[in-house]
Amino acid sequence: MQKIKENVYFVGAIDWNRKLFDELIPLPDGTSYNSYLIKGSEKIALLDSVDPPMCDVLLDGLKKSGSDRIDYIISHHAEQDHSGSLQELIKNYPEAKIVTNQKCKSMLVDLLLIPEEKFIVINDGETLSLGDKTLKFIFTPWVHWPETMCTYLEEDKIFFSCDFFGSHYATDELFVIDEKKIYNAAKRYYAEIMMPFSGQVIKNIQKISDLDIEIIAPSHGPVYRDIDFIVNAYKDWSSDKVKNEVIIPYVSMHGTTDKMVEYFEKSLAGKGIKVKTFHLTESDIGELAMALVDAATVVIATPTVLMGPHPNIVYAAYLIKALRPKLRFISIIGSYGWGGRTVEMLSDILSPLKAEIIEPVIIKGYPKEDDFRLLDKLAEKISSRHMDIS
Ligand code: FEO
Repeated sequence: MQKIKENVYFVGAIDWNRKLFDELIPLPDGTSYNSYLIKGSEKIALLDSVDPPMCDVLLDGLKKSGSDRIDYIISHHAEQDHSGSLQELIKNYPEAKIVTNQKCKSMLVDLLLIPEEKFIVINDGETLSLGDKTLKFIFTPWVHWPETMCTYLEEDKIFFSCDFFGSHYATDELFVIDEKKIYNAAKRYYAEIMMPFSGQVIKNIQKISDLDIEIIAPSHGPVYRDIDFIVNAYKDWSSDKVKNEVIIPYVSMHGTTDKMVEYFEKSLAGKGIKVKTFHLTESDIGELAMALVDAATVVIATPTVLMGPHPNIVYAAYLIKALRPKLRFISIIGSYGWGGRTVEMLSDILSPLKAEIIEPVIIKGYPKEDDFRLLDKLAEKISSRHMDIS
């Protein structure tokens, strides 16, 4: 248990060894599930629980807190890393009521089979008194599920933001100390979790802009005392500004696509464009997601397998589409031996993005002089488009 302010404590769990989230997202720095205990003069509230495998850590922390009861469990979000220990909590604290919004209640009933009578349903902007402390509930939909909400502790000016502003970062330090490290972890988190909802991120930042906030306490990673640090980072990432950068996710089976990427990267760099390449059989997809936050252009590079793109490229293209980055331009380069439908298949996957598809360069066999000239032309087009938007 760590103290944030008088009678406000962190009672969550640090997951140092977790390597993957949702069986999808790499966690190079582990993560934490932050649960907070607020002791008012009359009532005691717990904000969120922890991932079920770490429930014992939370229960132990609560025992050590000296509280023999919990009156309210505030549930900001139904995803199991915050709600998965609720059943165990209400067994241990049978008097506790779960306080949440209607949407979250329905999801908790569906996902965790929590009985209807355990809930108190609140509305957006409603307050709940703990005596000398007041909780104000702020609905913040789609950061990153439809039911997500936050709590503002009025007297202490603490904003409990759940996933919003979070970072997958395991640390003993309660507050952010090394801003550079947390910036990267929070950017990775934004890219993987929040980027598909950037419009809602902007709306929700606007919605909380009138609150007098001194501390932001998210449900993953350390607590922010410099709130401008994280709010300004979110404003930048969710804005429509793009950088003069090209990302090249690629796969090469026999060296041909490798050669094209190697040449194309130099051609782009010669025009002053920053290039980031990701060999998909080796790369951390979180790094790719982070690069997508800022880049103006993605060029997908693939060999032809079974008449289409390499399956790892199909996966990457699907992921890029799902993450909905603010890309302006997309192109495709690659080679084939006897034919295929690579461009059509990738264009179909990527078409929901609003980016312009610049004419791809698909060559037969190993690249020859004429093919290198085509890659130069593509680099020239990209450079010219970037200048137009800068
Ligand atoms: Fe940290 Fe959406 O759960």
